Amino acid sequence: MTFLERLDLSIPLIQAPMAGTSTPEMAAQVSNAGALGSIAVGATDAAGAREMIAEVRARTARPFNVNLFVHAAPVADAGREAAWSEWLRPLFAEFGAEPPAQLRSIYRSLLEDHEMLSLLVGEAPPVVSFHFGLPSGEAIRALRERGVVLLASATSLDEARAAAAAGIDVVVAQGIEAGGHRGMFDPAGPDAQLGTMALTRLLVREGLLPVVAAGGIMDGAGIAAALDLGAVAAQMGTAFVGCPESAADDAYRAALAGAGAYHTTLTPLISGRPARALANRFTALAGNPPLPDYPIAYDAGKALNAAAKARGEYGFGAQWAGQGAPLARAMPAAQLVEVLRQELAMYRK
Ligand SMILES: Cc1cc2nc3c(=O)[nH]c(=O)nc-3n(C[C@H](O)[C@H](O)[C@H](O)COP(=O)(O)O)c2cc1C
Repeated sequence: MTFLERLDLSIPLIQAPMAGTSTPEMAAQVSNAGALGSIAVGATDAAGAREMIAEVRARTARPFNVNLFVHAAPVADAGREAAWSEWLRPLFAEFGAEPPAQLRSIYRSLLEDHEMLSLLVGEAPPVVSFHFGLPSGEAIRALRERGVVLLASATSLDEARAAAAAGIDVVVAQGIEAGGHRGMFDPAGPDAQLGTMALTRLLVREGLLPVVAAGGIMDGAGIAAALDLGAVAAQMGTAFVGCPESAADDAYRAALAGAGAYHTTLTPLISGRPARALANRFTALAGNPPLPDYPIAYDAGKALNAAAKARGEYGFGAQWAGQGAPLARAMPAAQLVEVLRQELAMYRK
């Protein structure tokens, strides 16, 4: 059975899970339109995930994807964290605020969150996807036994091989063009920074798993190109940020729709892990001391953005976007799926 048949998709398209931006409403609209909608529960706990899954299920009977962060547990380092806060202090002061007294790890990895795993096994959503790493063999077995289709992001051949060896069903080849966090398993390790085209081809040639291409794909031409490379589908994030169903705030939408969309940059400064964002005051900071581990650094980043926003400065937001950002079209998610379907049909004649 092909990937599309298994998930009953009428278009080879996954709306990317986007923590803080994609919503149950968006996922349901996309799934109802025949693509695979995704929610990201990496930034919430089991109770929050339960609610989000229920909300999707209330709005669609079709397959959808639930995405988790599977990062290695951060190592707290009081000295590094204090130095980081001190370095940011003048910026906080600009907005009449102070950095948090102590930085916390704001997201729990699935590796540590047993309640989340039990919830997933109990709920058995049609698809579960992993970012930043792979869960335990036990977790993979438990989800597979419940019939869940498993996806994992990979930014290199080695990560894809690890996913295949672990029992993942489909690998998401995330190129350097992609918006949001790079899914690399070890942010301190070497990064060949492969583009979507080369990575997709490498993984397709390897033939380990079906490949979904992600990064810089914005329209039907891009989906067609991914399929021509041998991918079974395209995963698109930035293209959906401007949809009315997204949780993006007005400043993010305006930045994406403006000339700033031509300038994305990869930075670890906001969260502690490399992520691609629209260039802004935060991404432009330089001369920083060593960063706290992800997601401890993100505690400071979010606090700085909140302080700045409260004073009307939007230049410290995590405005994640991929290199294709200027090609984004703001329209309802279901309509975007239909436009993509028509464009794809033109290119695949
Ligand atoms: C706003 C935003 C948030 C993201 N959050 C997540 C996430 O929570 N989990 C995940 O696996 N990928 C996340 N990603 C990455 C996407 O899965 C995907 O790799 C990327 O969007 C593809 O590149 P594109 O943005 O050029 O389409 C995010 C991307 C964006 C733009």
